[in-house]
Amino acid sequence: MKSLFFTILSFAFFALPAQNPLAIPSTLSGDSIYLTLQYGTHSFFNGVNSSTMGVNGNILGPTLMLNRGQFVNIFVDNQLDDTTTIHWHGMHVAPENDGGPHTTIAPGSIWNPSFTVLDKAATYWYHPHLHKKTNEHVSKGIAGLIIVKDDEEAALDLPRTYGVDDFPLVVQTKDFDEKKEIIVHSNNDDIVMVNATVNPYLDVPAQVVRFRLLNGSSQRSFNFGLSNDLPFYQIASDGGLLSNSLQMTRLLLAPGERAEILVDFGQMNGQTVFLKSYASELPNGVYGAAYPGMMSGMTLNGYNPNPLNGSDFDILQLRIGAPTAAAVVSVPTGLAEVTPIDESEAVITRQLTFSPEQMGPNQLNGDFMINNVFFDMDVINYEIPLDNTEIWELRNQSAISHPFHIHDVQFYILSRNGVAPPLNEQGRKDVVMVAPQETVRFITRFETFSNPDVPYMYHCHLLTHEDKGMMGQFLVTSPLSVPSLNEDGNLRVYPNPSGGTVIIEADASVPLERIDIIDQSGRVLRSIDASGVRDHVRIDGIARGFYMLRILGNGQARYTKLLVH
Ligand code: C2O
Ligand code: CU
Ligand code: CU
Repeated sequence: MKSLFFTILSFAFFALPAQNPLAIPSTLSGDSIYLTLQYGTHSFFNGVNSSTMGVNGNILGPTLMLNRGQFVNIFVDNQLDDTTTIHWHGMHVAPENDGGPHTTIAPGSIWNPSFTVLDKAATYWYHPHLHKKTNEHVSKGIAGLIIVKDDEEAALDLPRTYGVDDFPLVVQTKDFDEKKEIIVHSNNDDIVMVNATVNPYLDVPAQVVRFRLLNGSSQRSFNFGLSNDLPFYQIASDGGLLSNSLQMTRLLLAPGERAEILVDFGQMNGQTVFLKSYASELPNGVYGAAYPGMMSGMTLNGYNPNPLNGSDFDILQLRIGAPTAAAVVSVPTGLAEVTPIDESEAVITRQLTFSPEQMGPNQLNGDFMINNVFFDMDVINYEIPLDNTEIWELRNQSAISHPFHIHDVQFYILSRNGVAPPLNEQGRKDVVMVAPQETVRFITRFETFSNPDVPYMYHCHLLTHEDKGMMGQFLVTSPLSVPSLNEDGNLRVYPNPSGGTVIIEADASVPLERIDIIDQSGRVLRSIDASGVRDHVRIDGIARGFYMLRILGNGQARYTKLLVH
């Protein structure tokens, strides 16, 4: 009897995939944030270690908790053997702080961007952005969420206790070889994971719960839904709260896109539901559908054996248990003031056409261009005057969907093929999916930051396409282009930009101790002893370039950018 019971039990273990508790990334907050990029190992499959890359750990990275208006100093210590960059996807920061492909962090060096958080409450993310290697570094594990909070969001009765009723969900698919090592460029990404946990389950309380969804995959789109068509409510798009919560049963997120949703589990204590991707409902022409090209004769090498393509699959099991003490019990309707920019304010319409390098049935396996050119690190594609309001018209003349992303700004989608977008796309966005043969128009304003030297990027967020050159870059320029200054009434740095000489002035209340000139890769080029200096230090003969000045005094460090032209 006993052995029969064991036989049945072990059969059940083999028949069902083991569910693993969902990992919840740790958090970091405050005005100094330390991130170390490192190698590690992670067990995606029970009992097997795979080689990974991570931030402050083996895989993925901590969630950064930032408040709108705060000043933050981030120290990115690259302990990898490879050069990389870290980009704050969706955040409005100066080009030199943006972590694009020009702002490289050499192995063994520290990059120290610092900025005021200007963004609205929403879910952003960070990931590497080295040209040609973004997919490798992201696929191997480097990515993390950034949660920005602000007063507008705080005034709403929303779940916001991280890991209790507010959960980060980084959803990815990857492919592995026989030794269970990650294969970087693959169309056979058949392993689904959330927060790097395969076959995950999560205990959620029987109340209103918030999920922050990120599609962190290299190529795959997810058509999110809950089993039994349980409704959920989208409350935020990429860059902020929507004006009203929207009830829905499906939500398509392309790579790079985020959404915040609420689910009311109030009447479901003791039940189990699944967050799924209903990929069988995806139209052909989306990576993840039965066929990735709009015609079924067109496919990608290795794509069609992949069992995830065109079929519905589980992403996360949700086990509903007892509610918490301070439960949110209803979904608020009105959320935030969303004020799209009026079309009449635009001073220019730029057309960007996406096309395959080669036409024909095999075109999906080739590379894709924007306006018939591939990305070139040395070519600036657009120069945009500071404060310009612009319409960008994206025309997809290829057979596969491309999620288009632009740095520096959030935008408002004006139309898809001439028609206003669905309500959940009427908020702030920084990624927009453009279907085959579709034309999408958006409006945005290039404000706050200009820099004559460091460009921002725009690109397809299919990382394979981005790495192969489906990307461009723009400078935001101003006749009085001055890099961002951390200006304090009692500490002045001028002139900036400078011709090679800079003066650092301090009030008696902030006695100076030392001034370091740090280059873009984090190396200290010069260290000037300023102890005993009464009011100012003059530094001459600084070579042309972009630097960080670290000004130590009165027991604290202040940072300012310095441009020498
Ligand atoms: Cu999420 Cu330019 O990238
Ligand atoms: Cu970005
Ligand atoms: Cu693309």
